[in-house]
Amino acid sequence: MTDDGRKGDARRDDARRDDGRACDPAVFVVFGVTGDLARRKILPALWANHRDGRTPLGCWVVGAARDASGSDDAVRQIAREAAVAAGGDPAAVEEWVTRYVSGARATDQDLGELKAKVEEIERAQQLPPRRVYYLSLPPAVFPGMIEALGRAGLSKPEGGWARLVIEKPFGRDLASARALNATVHAWFDEAQVYRIDHYLGKETVQNLLVFRFANALFESLWNRDHVESVMITVAETLGVEGRAGYYETAGQLRDMVQSHLTQLFTLVAMEVPSQLDAAAVRAEKLKVLRSVRPLAPDDAVLGQYEPGRIDEEDVAGYREEPGVAPDSRTETFAAVTLHVENWRWQGVPFHLRAGKRLLRRTTEIEIKFRRAPVWMFRRTQQEPQEQEPGTGLGTLHRNTLLLTLQPDEGFSLYIDVKAPGEPFRIHRLPLHFNYREVFPALPEAYQTLLLDVLQGDQTLFVHADEVEGSWALYAPLLDGRRAVYPYPAGTWGPLEAARISSR
Ligand code: BG6
Repeated sequence: MTDDGRKGDARRDDARRDDGRACDPAVFVVFGVTGDLARRKILPALWANHRDGRTPLGCWVVGAARDASGSDDAVRQIAREAAVAAGGDPAAVEEWVTRYVSGARATDQDLGELKAKVEEIERAQQLPPRRVYYLSLPPAVFPGMIEALGRAGLSKPEGGWARLVIEKPFGRDLASARALNATVHAWFDEAQVYRIDHYLGKETVQNLLVFRFANALFESLWNRDHVESVMITVAETLGVEGRAGYYETAGQLRDMVQSHLTQLFTLVAMEVPSQLDAAAVRAEKLKVLRSVRPLAPDDAVLGQYEPGRIDEEDVAGYREEPGVAPDSRTETFAAVTLHVENWRWQGVPFHLRAGKRLLRRTTEIEIKFRRAPVWMFRRTQQEPQEQEPGTGLGTLHRNTLLLTLQPDEGFSLYIDVKAPGEPFRIHRLPLHFNYREVFPALPEAYQTLLLDVLQGDQTLFVHADEVEGSWALYAPLLDGRRAVYPYPAGTWGPLEAARISSR
């Protein structure tokens, strides 16, 4: 049995987020090293961890590609360019590349060259087998490559460990996710598997745990007695950015909602884990998923962007993007309302909204608290004037907590105060905290996540049961038969979406 299988989750989590945590020297294989993700995220993150002294005992990178682009020279050139583009000092990058980066040709039919290269590094460095296999590949290739690793005897090396990192999308529905999990588990134990959702690597997303569980002030209000509704928004101004081939087969539900938004939702809604470790945190997230009431037809609205204007520039509609079918029904916007049937959240709607080509880029979580039970300021003016129909009360008289995860990381707690002077007026003010004013440098999500893989910490990775639970939740929306409402680019999505979030 491998080290990971034997020791499981628990041993690794004591020292989470502790700078002094051990990071074994290891060989890090990047399958698909010529791809966009490797160049933009994975290689810069490996470089940054080296530069920051986070892998002091060595992390040898082997970039694997199908053809000659997997040669040592070609891979070194890719790594060099990626690290310099990420701001690396050319001389320091050169030293890293020369010492730690090499290449190998590999296909799911032939891992011979790669295996020899990995073993050669281990021999030269006198390392036991400690290997990360990062599948930065098109999803269709995942099963073949996992089986190839298993058949080549690379999945459970004696006297060391092997870890498998899998990018999203993990399946495209429940059946395909189950099939992929079965393939993975035929060769790797769950304790060896790291399913990436890069949102979990964002500092502000991890901060949700601290915000909730280190501040008794908020946690004691975090329930149906005090919270009226929760809105989780991931708004992008970007469109599909040349990825139509993938996006046409995915759409916003699969690309964003099933993964990133659902992860944010579980972190907001879960119960307090018994401790900060992978097993406890992931078990709580799974419980929330399993407490969600099955979605009804009325719980979701889908949309697709039409031409419009963003930041004073004209942008094309989705159907005009290169590679998109002129009659495409792929959704670029999704609004879904989840109802959690448990003691903490019964009756509190969680509205999830995600869209491309919206008015501005923001990822935020808005917790709307209940109004004061008795309102003694009926005759009082409020600023700005805004009355809720039929109540004579302002819509503003609810405390609201807005957690902004990006790009202006921070939070605002909206409260009412008396405006000075006469007449007696109520004014709404945010108590505001801005992350970057206190912490100017936030690490990239991939830097954090890759380090966690090297340290064997699965807390920020998605468990097999979670991924299946999430697909099961959205199954009623994935048959492609729902209405897709148009919305102009540069707005907040179709008007129909406001209908479900104001219920
Ligand atoms: C990716 C999606 O997972 O996340 C993209 O495939 C999306 O479509 C991206 O644009 C958003 O990530 P971020 O970190 O920019 O919010």
